[in-house]
Amino acid sequence: MCGIVGYIGKANAASVLIGGLKRLEYRGYDSAGLALLDGDVIHISKAPGKVANLNAKARAEWDAGMIERAGTGIAHTRWATHGPPTEANAHPHLDESGHIALVHNGIIENYRSIRARLESKGHHFRSETDTEVLAHLIGDCDKGDLLQAVRDALHQVEGTFGIAVISSREPGIIITARRGSPIVIGVGHGETIIASDASAILAHTQRVIYLDDNDIAVVTADAVDVRDLNNFPVTREIAELGLDTAATEKGGYEHFMLKEIHEQPESLANAIRGRLDHQLGSSVLSGMGTSPRDLAEILRVVMVGCGTSLHAAMVGEYALGDIADIPAEVRQAADFRYRNPILGNHDLVVAISQSGETADTLAAVREARQKGAFVMSLVNVVGSTIARETGRGVYLHAGPEISVASTKAFTSQVSVLLMMALKLGRGRRFSREEGLRLALEIEAIPELVRSVIKQDKLISEIAARYVDNEHAFYIGRGPMYPVALEGALKLKEISYIHAEGYHAAELKHGPIALLQKGTLVVAVACEGPAKDKTLGNVEECRARGARILGVITEGDHEAEEVMDDFIAIPRAHPLVATIPATVALQLFSYHVARLRGCEIDQPRNLAKSVTVE
Ligand code: F6R
Repeated sequence: MCGIVGYIGKANAASVLIGGLKRLEYRGYDSAGLALLDGDVIHISKAPGKVANLNAKARAEWDAGMIERAGTGIAHTRWATHGPPTEANAHPHLDESGHIALVHNGIIENYRSIRARLESKGHHFRSETDTEVLAHLIGDCDKGDLLQAVRDALHQVEGTFGIAVISSREPGIIITARRGSPIVIGVGHGETIIASDASAILAHTQRVIYLDDNDIAVVTADAVDVRDLNNFPVTREIAELGLDTAATEKGGYEHFMLKEIHEQPESLANAIRGRLDHQLGSSVLSGMGTSPRDLAEILRVVMVGCGTSLHAAMVGEYALGDIADIPAEVRQAADFRYRNPILGNHDLVVAISQSGETADTLAAVREARQKGAFVMSLVNVVGSTIARETGRGVYLHAGPEISVASTKAFTSQVSVLLMMALKLGRGRRFSREEGLRLALEIEAIPELVRSVIKQDKLISEIAARYVDNEHAFYIGRGPMYPVALEGALKLKEISYIHAEGYHAAELKHGPIALLQKGTLVVAVACEGPAKDKTLGNVEECRARGARILGVITEGDHEAEEVMDDFIAIPRAHPLVATIPATVALQLFSYHVARLRGCEIDQPRNLAKSVTVE
């Protein structure tokens, strides 16, 4: 969603800030802005649209000497919540006096009452945003000490924030704070960079401090002083990012999404490496922090997540049921938090999230902890809030996922869930021999995926035949049902084709009414106990004139015969096959969207991590 960058140091702040905003572009945004502090004057430039527009506008309207000189500034990419993406609504926002500039991620829920109160004191607002209200509130609290003013203002607001604030009256500092919206501080040599996401920092330093909720930091070029909202100093260790900039660049691919799809043999190998135990026919997931005895005491697993991560959880539900013989449930994270879930200390709650920052998933984690459940996470972004708050879990090691549409995180999530099911299963009725067989299947996943990626050209040719379809239905059964949901999600979000995923058995209960000559039905019908039934559903669709694209198992001539087109994946355990089947659908969506000329990496209206409810 929105992105924050702040810089104070000896370099040219404008270049650092624009570079940082560019690295945050992947998160999705619709306007951008920048404030520079030159001596004791704040200069602001804002523009709807891309960071490139902002850069051009700022350089056209500002004096080149000032741009060269200024060593302090804050910048923002905005994803509209309160008011449309106009120049007036873009951040930074100034306070009433014009001395204080603020950028903000999150939502100030009580902004209306604060705005009314300030208006009655004579404040004039130039935007529709909640952020401008916070800027004015800080200004209203400012009696000559910016830190104190920010603290006083934050005590009055309800909602979520990640902020960076500068003042022309205190030019040597930036104040930053967070509650519910991430802030990372990069500690360089004679320079400090603030960002909402480490990818804006890693070109400058690997040394970072993650703020916790209700931390407020005074940042100078040489020091970071972190306090709580009551002004007590708190210690936040410096961590190493362990990422390189190459991981956040396109590396010759046309889009990040294509790069990330192609990276999957490697990202999956990273997720699996060192985590299979071929002696015991089990897995080693030390981050779970559980002894065999702890595992034996778990009576139920509840998985929470949103979107693609929710679909991974659904595959996990099949895996835990079939392999681990343990009741497993999947809950949409927002729903979970508001339904007063019944949980106890025999429940394992697994939060699944690529970003580790999704607001609803984070809230579900907090609710589960409150209820005394054993909580852990499957997260990709190291140091993210969910990873830190759960304290135990398994990192996906997929590397930075820049494309808004999630691909490699999903396949890593599923592979880790398979390993988790294996571990739990071995503590129950799964035998060593069964465990050894499954471990070998899991180990082969990167190779299975490689063989799907080799078919990229063929899949692109198939995609060309469906590029003009405006509707698509995806069907599957058993673990291929969530794969169908994920395939439909991927197609709709990047190609804007209306796509729906159904359990194949549900088709006859309603959606079949929509089928007519030429409607695209994508059937995920790989070998497994449910395959014949899915093929039966395919016949029903064909009888109504639908065109069928199958994802099937290599050499399955029976399946080939009922499909208009097919993508074949190698033979594998039906749960393992969910991964190459998903990769086939990722490539299909990608090529359809590319041929339709869509903006693949940043689809309209979407944001990479949804940090508001
Ligand atoms: C779809 C997609 C989203 C995310 C969802 C949860 O391609 O990326 O549906 O999966 O917003 O995000 P995380 O996994 O970061 O919690």
